[in-house]
Amino acid sequence: MSHVLVLGANGQIAREAIDLFLKETDVRLTLYLRKSSRLGNIDSNRARVIDGDVMDQVKLKDAMNGVDVVYVNLAGDLEQYARTIVETMKSVGVKRLIFISSMGIYDEVPGQKYSSILDPYRKAASIVEASDLDYTILRPAWFTRSNEIDYEITQKGEPFKGREVSCKSVAALVVKLAESPELEIRRSLGVSKPH
Ligand SMILES: NC(=O)c1ccc[n+]([C@@H]2O[C@H](COP(=O)([O-])OP(=O)(O)OC[C@H]3O[C@@H](n4cnc5c(N)ncnc54)[C@H](OP(=O)(O)O)[C@@H]3O)[C@@H](O)[C@H]2O)c1
Repeated sequence: MSHVLVLGANGQIAREAIDLFLKETDVRLTLYLRKSSRLGNIDSNRARVIDGDVMDQVKLKDAMNGVDVVYVNLAGDLEQYARTIVETMKSVGVKRLIFISSMGIYDEVPGQKYSSILDPYRKAASIVEASDLDYTILRPAWFTRSNEIDYEITQKGEPFKGREVSCKSVAALVVKLAESPELEIRRSLGVSKPH
């Protein structure tokens, strides 16, 4: 049974993914977040909860002990976060990383020019790609709250397709990747609802 560490467990995609992990898999979870009381009741047989900031490297290292997959669902200083997470994974010896970034980081969206708002996402992705980790970067389109799982992926180097995707679709892809250690390794995937 694999063990997944969720960093930023109160994020909107993370909450959807945690729901799916608990309902549809027997994966064990470690949920890492600030102000953990926000999570409410979580079955302690399935998940442990760690209250912490991702920049607290001692706590982060401890959280990574014994996990098979690190799933990063953060917003903010992503460049610094990526550096810290990659370094800590190396030091603990965890290889599998699923990292949520954004569409547009390679200027790959037809009709949309690259904007500096994406700099932290782009820099974080470069740090992940320069590592020797078994990473999958996800580049989702704009999130919708639609209660559906409906997505297609594009690989790095291909033009991005579509403009939006449901949170639930991104969460479902995270769960699928976390359960399939050989899937989409060292890839960066665009994720969007098919037209
Ligand atoms: N909205 C869109 O349409 C869209 C589209 C594509 C990509 N994205 C990106 O996809 C990613 C995931 O999205 P989301 O909506 O699930 O994110 P979200 O709801 O904004 O959650 C991000 C989480 O990161 C946590 N966080 C930030 N800094 C932290 C730190 N130092 N230590 C611990 N936790 C920290 C936040 O915790 P706190 O609650 O404690 O602040 C928050 O829960 C984001 O980077 C987002 O920008 C968004």
